[in-house]
Amino acid sequence: IKPCNLTGWWENDLGSKMQVFEVGKDGTFSGQYHTAVSSTKKPIQPSPVTGSQHLDEDGQCTFGFTVNWKKFSDSTAVFVGQCFNGDDGKEVLHTSWLLREKVDSELDDWKATRTGHNTFTRAG
Ligand code: BTN
Repeated sequence: IKPCNLTGWWENDLGSKMQVFEVGKDGTFSGQYHTAVSSTKKPIQPSPVTGSQHLDEDGQCTFGFTVNWKKFSDSTAVFVGQCFNGDDGKEVLHTSWLLREKVDSELDDWKATRTGHNTFTRAG
């Protein structure tokens, strides 16, 4: 079993791609997220990722990261997940996300957060 290290390229079930740069000794990392889908009309742009992972040796670490879509959207997404090593030795990340949209008024707060799931596999 490979120890859990998120460094590298990942692709999810929506076709979004994420590159995680080096993971620090403290488990923190940064990266770039190329989403395949968007709720905005502006053209999609690569967006900065900042996150933190556990450094477990069993390859099944939990992690979290934030994506700030600042170049084309007022929204912010957070993902939490866990890495699994399948029987075929392939790593898979199971994640849940919250996407917070900017609303004009507190009265609209109730509808501002979406949630969902994404599965990522290594893309190189
Ligand atoms: C926006 O629509 O305001 C910005 C892009 C949001 C993309 C979301 S985040 C959760 C889901 N997983 C993806 O890979 N893309 C969408």
